[in-house]
Amino acid sequence: MYQGLIDRYRKYLPVTSKTPVISLYEGNTPLLRAKNLERYLKLSNLKIYLKCEGFNPTGSFKDRGMTMAISKAAEARAEAVICASTGNTSASAAAYSARAGIKCIVLIPQGSIALGKLSQAMMHNARVIAIKGNFDEALTIVRKIGEKYPVTVVNSINPYRIEGQKTGSFEVVDFLGKAPDYHFIPVGNAGNITAYWKGYKEYCRGKLPRMMGFQASGASPIVLGRPVKHPKTIATAIKIGNPASWKQAQAARDESSGVIEAVTDSEILNAYKLLAALEGVFVEPASAASVAGLIKHSGKLKKQGDKTAVCVLTGHGLKDPDRAIKSIKQPVVVEPTLEKVVKEIKF
Ligand code: F0G
Repeated sequence: MYQGLIDRYRKYLPVTSKTPVISLYEGNTPLLRAKNLERYLKLSNLKIYLKCEGFNPTGSFKDRGMTMAISKAAEARAEAVICASTGNTSASAAAYSARAGIKCIVLIPQGSIALGKLSQAMMHNARVIAIKGNFDEALTIVRKIGEKYPVTVVNSINPYRIEGQKTGSFEVVDFLGKAPDYHFIPVGNAGNITAYWKGYKEYCRGKLPRMMGFQASGASPIVLGRPVKHPKTIATAIKIGNPASWKQAQAARDESSGVIEAVTDSEILNAYKLLAALEGVFVEPASAASVAGLIKHSGKLKKQGDKTAVCVLTGHGLKDPDRAIKSIKQPVVVEPTLEKVVKEIKF
């Protein structure tokens, strides 16, 4: 039986027989072919695959990094871990810490995290501290606490997070038999693009993909070349103005002849709705930035020969039900009679 990504990819990860593996059997997520989207975009030469990371135990790709970070924290007998988060990291850190019996402290930007994520951190008994500020301010505080107090930081500045997350590329390569030509990915704090690129470089014998990273246009420091003091976007997961792995993301872009560009909130919402309506895949808004990026490039992609693209869908749609309900036509309400219902269905 599948027992999580440390078990599967042990020889590529910094673990030993002494490392206590803290796992919720994360990873092994579906790579779905998106034929309806290919047809809709008239991209007959492009095979689009969706790496559905919302299928991870806490509903996002963060579980890949967290199984590593918490296992290593347990190995080092850490008593507490801490992170700043736009929501998913805190949900994942809280769940894995609960399983490891380690205290978990999370700092979140007040009012800027999706309800599903907040409920997860609370249910797993994390100490949740909402700060009257944004993610970047929360991360600055967390870094200082990590330097001064006996607590392990489990943001992606913790190298074990990147190690775990690189297994996403291993799975893509194992499934396709090679790397895709293009790898589309949302960029927030820039840990995941760093991890996927590291994973491709370590695991792939043939040609490497072009890394296509996308930030939300109101939170696009790497695109602008300067930090954004007051980031704004409906994609709260990537509402980040000063990414920790900025340099590594640029390196991934440049070494792979890729891009890091911006997509607007309306492009993100369009991709978000298309994925749900055409492919049956419900993601959270930030995740749709990868597909919004692909749509933005579809004109250029059409002019190429046969190619393969992977879009990472980083988090599940149920994380942020409020946004879903705000984005779509509301259900009709009718009297509870057969006639009224039949009339409404318009048979
Ligand atoms: N997509 C989702 C759903 C995320 O939660 C995040 C980051 C990203 C994309 C961007 O990934 O930061 O590695 O570039 N969420 C972090 C958090 C910041 O706190 O949960 P990244």
